[in-house]
Amino acid sequence: MTQLIEDLDILKNNDTEAENCEVKVSKEGKNTSARKLYIESYGCQMNFSDSEIVTSILQKEGFDTTSNFEKADVILLNTCSIREKAEQTVRKRLAQFNKIKSSKPEITIGVLGCMAERLKAKLLEEEKIVDLVVGPDAYRDLPNLVLKAEEGEKGVNTFLSREETYADISPVRLNSNGVTAFISIMRGCDNMCSFCVVPFTRGRERSRDPHSIVNEARDLFNKGYREVTLLGQNVDSYKWSPEENNKAKLEKQKVDEVVNFANLLEMVAQVHPDLRVRFSTSHPKDITDEVLHTMKQYENICKYIHLPAQSGNSRVLEIMNRTYDREWYINRVDAIRSILGEECGISSDMIAGFCTETEEEHQDTLSLMDYVKYDFSYMFFYSERPGTLAAKKYEDDIPLEIKKRRLQEIINKQQALSLERNKLDIGKTFKVLIEGTSKKSDDDLQGRNSANKVVIFENKGYKKGEYVNVKVHDCTAATLFGKVIG
Ligand code: SAH
Ligand code: SF4
Ligand code: F3S
Repeated sequence: MTQLIEDLDILKNNDTEAENCEVKVSKEGKNTSARKLYIESYGCQMNFSDSEIVTSILQKEGFDTTSNFEKADVILLNTCSIREKAEQTVRKRLAQFNKIKSSKPEITIGVLGCMAERLKAKLLEEEKIVDLVVGPDAYRDLPNLVLKAEEGEKGVNTFLSREETYADISPVRLNSNGVTAFISIMRGCDNMCSFCVVPFTRGRERSRDPHSIVNEARDLFNKGYREVTLLGQNVDSYKWSPEENNKAKLEKQKVDEVVNFANLLEMVAQVHPDLRVRFSTSHPKDITDEVLHTMKQYENICKYIHLPAQSGNSRVLEIMNRTYDREWYINRVDAIRSILGEECGISSDMIAGFCTETEEEHQDTLSLMDYVKYDFSYMFFYSERPGTLAAKKYEDDIPLEIKKRRLQEIINKQQALSLERNKLDIGKTFKVLIEGTSKKSDDDLQGRNSANKVVIFENKGYKKGEYVNVKVHDCTAATLFGKVIG
C-alpha cells in the first residue's frame, strides 16, 4: 500500500508510480438532474479503493459523480496522514475549496480517510469550511451525515470498527482503464511499526469474507477486466475463520476451514486462467513459502512481490519495531529467488534518516539494496507522526539535510539497480497484458509483464485487455521497449 500522491518527499523512479501520482477524480456522471458528488483521493491504493466504496454508497442515495468540482453539490477529499507533506497537500486543497464555498455556501465539503481519523473534530475547528469528518470505518453513515450537513448540522463519525469490511458493497470503479482493478481483502493493521500512523488511522486488522472477494473478482472478469490486485496493509496475515464468518454473517455460504492468504490467492487464481492476480503489500515477517509455492503453481498469479524492507540494518529495524532483522529479510529474498527464480520482480519501501540512524547503518540499507537488486522502490525520508511509538520514544535527531542526502543516495542506488535489472530483460519475450495507449504516444501501446514492468510497443491494432507476447529490444530504468511477436 505504498503508492502515494503529490507528496513531495516521494521520489519517483518508475513510470508505474507516475500513474499513481495523479490525483484521481471521479468519472463524469450521466444523470444531470441528480445531486453531484466530486471525490478526490490521496494516499495509498486502499484509499483509492475506499473512494470506490464511498461512491457506491452515495450513488444508491441518488448521487451522480462529476469530474468537475465546480459543478459538485458535495466535495469529498479522501485523505492520507502517512507523512506531514501528505497532510499539507490536503490543507492546501481545502483552502482552494474554501474559495468556491465562499461564493457557493450551499455546497458540502467533507474530509474522509486517515486525516479525518487522526484529527477528528479538530478538523472542524481548524478548517472552518469543513462540514463533515468521516473516518475509514464509518462510510455507511455518509448518506445520513451528508443529509444533516445539508441542513446545516456539521457531523463527525470516526468510529473504528473491528468488523467492518464493506464486503457486501460493490465498488463503483473510478478512473478505470477497464482492464485492471483493486480489491480490498482486509482492513486495518495490527503491526505497530514505530514510525507508522496507519494502525491509529485504520484500526485493527480484519479480513474480508473470501467468497465476497472471489465473487468480486469473477464479476470483474465477466465485465472484461483481466487483472485484479488484492489489497491489504499486510496481505500475508489474511485469515478468515468459520467463527469470524459466523460473526459477520455477510454471506449465506459458510467457509468450513480457516482460509489463509495462500488459500485465498489460489481461490482467486481459479476464477479464470486469463485473470491475472497481483497483491500488495507483503510483510517480510509473514510471507510464507506456501504463498511462494502457490504463486509458482499458477501462471496467472503474477511473479512480483512488494516486500518493503524499510532499512537494511538490524538495529534500526528493531527500533522501527518491524520484528525481523536483516538476516531474516535476506532469507525471505533467497526463498523468493529459489522458488520463483531470478525473473520474479521484487520492490521495496525504504525510509532514510530514521531516529538515531548512523552513517554505517545507512550504508547497510544501500548494501541490502545491492544484495536484493530491487526492480523498483518507493523511497522516503523519515517524517515524525504525532502519537506514534517513535514520536513518543525516540528523538527525530537526524538533520533534514542529512535525511535528504541519504535519501538521494538510496534513490541513485535504485536508479542504477532498476536499469541493471531491466537490461537483463533485453532479448527476452514476455506475456504482456495491454492496459491502453502509451502516455507519450497514441502510436504505441502500454502494458505490463508478470513482474510488473511497464512494456511499450507499437500499436498494430491490438486492443486493451488482450495478451500479447512482446520481445524486448531496449529499456530505460523505468520502462521496457519491445515488438509483438508470434
Ligand atoms: N503496510 C505497508 C506500508 C504502508 S505505509 C508495509 O508495512 O510495508 C507505506 C510506506 O510509507 C511504508 O512502507 C514506509 O516506507 C512509509 N512510511 C510510513 N510511515 C512513514 C513515516 N513516518 N515517515 C516516512 N515514511 C513513512
Ligand atoms: Fe504501518 Fe507497519 Fe502496518 Fe505497514 S505493517 S501499515 S508500516 S504499522
Ligand atoms: Fe494509506 Fe495514507 Fe492512510 S498511506 S492507510 S491513506 S495514512
